[in-house]
Amino acid sequence: MSRFCVAGSLNIDLVTRTKRFPKKGETVQGESFSTFTGGKGANQAVALSKLGAETVMTGKLGNDIYAAQYMEYFRKLGISTEGITREETSTGIAVITVDENGENSIIIIPGANGRVSAEYIKEKNELIAKADFLLLQLEVPMEAVLEAAKIANSAGTRIIFDPAPAGDVPSELLKLADIITPNETEAEALTGIRPDDQTGFEAAGKALTAKGVKAAVMKAGSRGAYIYQNGRLIHAEGFKVNTVDTTAAGDTFNAGLAYALGEGMALRAAVRFANAAAAISTTKHGAQDGMPSLNEVQGLLEG
Ligand code: RIB
Repeated sequence: MSRFCVAGSLNIDLVTRTKRFPKKGETVQGESFSTFTGGKGANQAVALSKLGAETVMTGKLGNDIYAAQYMEYFRKLGISTEGITREETSTGIAVITVDENGENSIIIIPGANGRVSAEYIKEKNELIAKADFLLLQLEVPMEAVLEAAKIANSAGTRIIFDPAPAGDVPSELLKLADIITPNETEAEALTGIRPDDQTGFEAAGKALTAKGVKAAVMKAGSRGAYIYQNGRLIHAEGFKVNTVDTTAAGDTFNAGLAYALGEGMALRAAVRFANAAAAISTTKHGAQDGMPSLNEVQGLLEG
């Protein structure tokens, strides 16, 4: 059985549902308000564990009531918390608005996530080195992400890098990643090419691999994903489901991809598995509540 390490963020998501996003300067009345566990790193760890994977997470929580709840929740899910430390600050917060189409906009306040340093990651190096796969995102400081990638690379741990949220990424990190998984916005931030259609995805994939990543798996929402590897583009169709909230669909995709590769699937089959997992995750509200079990993913794949 493969082992997975996630190095990244843990957030508490403060979620407002509304019919439509307010325009600049406008006030609209919302439908509901809820608090969920979230954070791109924690979401990927939770999705892995729901699929039945052996998962350890490294990151930081604050000194508030949320932190204790988060630790308890991870223990219940069987996610190892040996790599999580609490800091004298607030837990990371994400202020999220979800509209009636399930689309979201997010503001994050890093809190303890901002204290994950390269030094801290070095202390936790064994967790990364012992894993078969390392999952990375960009909600903790870049120096920590880079350090984790270096440790993984020298230990032979495969790196699945989610360049989210969108921003600049050092070329050293791109060269260390085995698979990069940007959505359209992130691919554009990294390459300057907006991949709206097949030609755009091909150009973006080519540009990404030219920067040194071994394979680009570009997420395209309900359209599924595009794989660019060895100079060839392949489209893996998305699954039709009743979407209510797309928050963390990308995180569930990455966890599904890692899980499937860990089970020995080829990249194309693993992306199909990831598409199914991500689709199911959008059928419930909140980042983590809709994340599927292995049976649920298999059900959608076979159905
Ligand atoms: O990817 C979704 C996540 O982004 C949310 O859970 C929120 O915490 C933000 O980090």
